[in-house]
Amino acid sequence: MRMVDLIEKKRDGHELTTEEIRFIVEGYTNDKIPDYQVSALAMAIFFQDMNDRERADLTMAMVESGETIDLSDINGIKVDKHSTGGVGDTTTLVLAPLVAAAGVPVAKMSGRGLGHTGGTLDKLEAIPGFHIELTREEFASRVNESLIAVIGQSGNLTPADKKLYALRDVTATVDSIPLIASSIMSKKIASGADAIVLDVKTGAGAFMKDEEDARKLAAAMVAIGNKVGRNTMAVISDMSQPLGLAIGNSLEVQEAIEALRGGGPDDLRELCLALGRQMVYLGGKADSLEEAEELLKELLDNGKALEKFKEFIRNQGGDPAVADDTSLLPQAPYRIELPAREDGFVSRMTADAIGTAAMVLGAGRATKDSVIDLSVGLMLNKKVGDAVKKGESLVTIHANTEDVADVMEKLYAAIEIAPQAEAPLLVRGIVTGNGEQ
Ligand code: URA
Ligand code: CA
Repeated sequence: MRMVDLIEKKRDGHELTTEEIRFIVEGYTNDKIPDYQVSALAMAIFFQDMNDRERADLTMAMVESGETIDLSDINGIKVDKHSTGGVGDTTTLVLAPLVAAAGVPVAKMSGRGLGHTGGTLDKLEAIPGFHIELTREEFASRVNESLIAVIGQSGNLTPADKKLYALRDVTATVDSIPLIASSIMSKKIASGADAIVLDVKTGAGAFMKDEEDARKLAAAMVAIGNKVGRNTMAVISDMSQPLGLAIGNSLEVQEAIEALRGGGPDDLRELCLALGRQMVYLGGKADSLEEAEELLKELLDNGKALEKFKEFIRNQGGDPAVADDTSLLPQAPYRIELPAREDGFVSRMTADAIGTAAMVLGAGRATKDSVIDLSVGLMLNKKVGDAVKKGESLVTIHANTEDVADVMEKLYAAIEIAPQAEAPLLVRGIVTGNGEQ
């Protein structure tokens, strides 16, 4: 097989066979095929697309390019959730104990990474004493006994994706549905998921800003999952404004605890139920999505989800008292209000710009080596569609300095007040193996 022939084949709009896709991914991982040829192929895929079979083959070839996590010593159907990333997204902290309380095993590998706020791992470390240093055996027995544990990421997973993603980044081929879908799905499958629930975000704070693109990506990933024997479903959700009210690590843990108590912001609860019911259904703990949702509401409202959260925290060395007294979490020394400059309705709270303001405060990492301040962040006092009076606080800034003039300017630029505005629809679509609903 010659790479140049395969590039030509795809350039001319033909299908690549399973063997050809494997040849390319293996050759690239082992440095036998150079970057310039893979760049040309990525551009050909960008223009000519791939069918569902080629997308599934590309996904599995990338899974097989490195190590995979074997979770077969953990009982039950392991359902993993993936979000394409947003601002103030606290769903994982709520969903993990919630679906565990419903009987679905949560064997979570979590990472740090860059962003407006830290990853799930950083947020959990806001809880005094909490740690993720478990051996592989401890991890498995924790999940088997308690149905929930979190461990740090390890192993050389999907090296082909790492190499290809870096190459796409510098060759203008990131924005390709088959390449994004196979990239995300390969990582989930390599991490040992039996079933996958996807939260595909759309809007200013999302990777997929355009809603039609988000729909296409969700459909592409659901098709891949179901083709390779991993039941997959997706929710398409709004990320034009941040989710919930809290943006920041300690603040988001507090918000998650409120949601686990049966309260918290309405949008956070709604999205947790939309994603959680798919997880419970795919995990085999309910016969329909409706039944799964009823079960989850019950667990939030009767305290069982909160109990599971405490058990999880205790199991990993943390102080479960935070669940009853969130003032035990790191608190920023300064609280500064952002007053509205006019009367009206909030018509825009641009998610990515608000995320950037939180990062400037110190809540997120700009580079791999940045140190996060877990205590700082933003609490939104209004959301899009809310009425506001001049002088009323739009946002409470939790800071480690009194000098937040630049953060205030960024927030004013991100927030718009108009004579009229309506709240955006949160859940924009549901994709199951049978198509979009
Ligand atoms: N996120 C990924 O993991 N891969 C992509 O290709 C794009 C976004
Ligand atoms: Ca939030």
